[in-house]
Amino acid sequence: MATPTAEREQWGSRIGFVLAAAGSAIGLGNIWRFPFKTGENGGAAFVILYLACIAFICLPYLFAELSLGRNSQKNPVGAIKAIKEKGPWSLVGGLCVLTGVFILSYYGVIAGWAVGYIFKDVFAPAVDAGQYFTNFIADPSAVIPLLALFMLITIGVVVGGVEQGIERWAKVLMPILLVLMLVVIFRSVTLPGAGAGLDFYLNPDFSKIDGAVIVEALGQAFFSLSLGMGAMITYGSYLPKRENLLVSGGYVALFDTAIALMAGLMIFPAVFAMGATPDEGPALIFVVLPQVFEAMPLGGFIGAVFFILLSIAALTSTVSLLEVVVSYFVDETSFNRKKAAWLVGGFTFAFGVPSALANGAVSWLSDMSWLVSNNIVGQNPSFLDLMDFVWGNMSLGMGALLLSIFVGWVWGSEQAIDELQQGSGDTFRGTLAKSWSVFLKYICPLFILIILANIVGINLIEQVINLFG
Ligand code: TRP
Repeated sequence: MATPTAEREQWGSRIGFVLAAAGSAIGLGNIWRFPFKTGENGGAAFVILYLACIAFICLPYLFAELSLGRNSQKNPVGAIKAIKEKGPWSLVGGLCVLTGVFILSYYGVIAGWAVGYIFKDVFAPAVDAGQYFTNFIADPSAVIPLLALFMLITIGVVVGGVEQGIERWAKVLMPILLVLMLVVIFRSVTLPGAGAGLDFYLNPDFSKIDGAVIVEALGQAFFSLSLGMGAMITYGSYLPKRENLLVSGGYVALFDTAIALMAGLMIFPAVFAMGATPDEGPALIFVVLPQVFEAMPLGGFIGAVFFILLSIAALTSTVSLLEVVVSYFVDETSFNRKKAAWLVGGFTFAFGVPSALANGAVSWLSDMSWLVSNNIVGQNPSFLDLMDFVWGNMSLGMGALLLSIFVGWVWGSEQAIDELQQGSGDTFRGTLAKSWSVFLKYICPLFILIILANIVGINLIEQVINLFG
């Protein structure tokens, strides 16, 4: 069964862990998904809900995943088994691993688009940005090789292992991305007509909030912080006891949120300045940003560098998704790292093909309204939209619900608090620890339950009010 923990790899340094975990968190979720979800869900009001979900649900929940990971020194399945050897709980670990494979399958497709856009200006400068995008994502001879390429690079990094592979890359490249984003923000907010975008992004209209918007905000918050499928259990498992989980976790959440907010600042002023609409869905950044680059001196070059960095941000995320699944195989089976990475990567590529073909290449995959009625997942959802909804919203919510119950009740919040106290000096005691325990055991599961029930059309809050009214 499990390998002895003494041989387990560890991060080389605190900054190494923070950057690798932030590298997992920061990715297409921040720069591609956050802006388009914000655009589809009404702008500033969505941003506020998203921030509330991060602060009050995701950040406290992050500590549950980190503490379980470091305590068990295992992948999600192994971590659960270490506490509850038998029974259905290990299925939750299985759900984590499956979710990793499926998120990776369509995430790799979008990452492939980002890679393709590095060369956009080489092949097609100054064509209509919308038309170019529509043709590009519908072209199987472009998107499938790009998906394959991206999976190959991801596999390569994961085979390299924790310290040499993941950590080394994250350290150099994340800071460069930050600087380039600042440059693009500067151009975007100084475009004529940018004000309307700032208004949309920063000035909330609360009448736009409904149940569906709340579900999307929570789903986005989990997705962005890589929560709900054990990625942070796995990354926490490589941490030494002297590490302060609260501080490190806090930094990860801070960086991730900052990058998402910056992505919005980069995009919305430009959307309005270019006369585009914010609710374009997954196309948003690919259509709008090239137009911003065009309005910049050296735009072609800056655009290429931007998409290189976006691809790298996506890579540090795909690496974490694959790492969860690979660490499961390495810990729990006789597979070595190399074999597990190739096998899982290969399967994930195969599962990714329908998502790659779902954007105009194959019509029944591109519009699946024949399968799901409209409005559940937006209008005329594609196979990729469905995958993102099922795995990137629902499954993460489910995973977080079950894992918070597991850590709070089965393992026990006292044990988790004990783990969090190691390496954190005197900070996590008394009232703070008590309130966290209440949060983990009651508030977090309840909130997620209410929000998830909403998706299947059950309005729990209304039901409770009716019960008493
Ligand atoms: N958080 C990443 C992003 O924002 C995506 C990601 C990586 C992820 N690992 C994950 C999402 C685990 C959910 C679970 O792009």
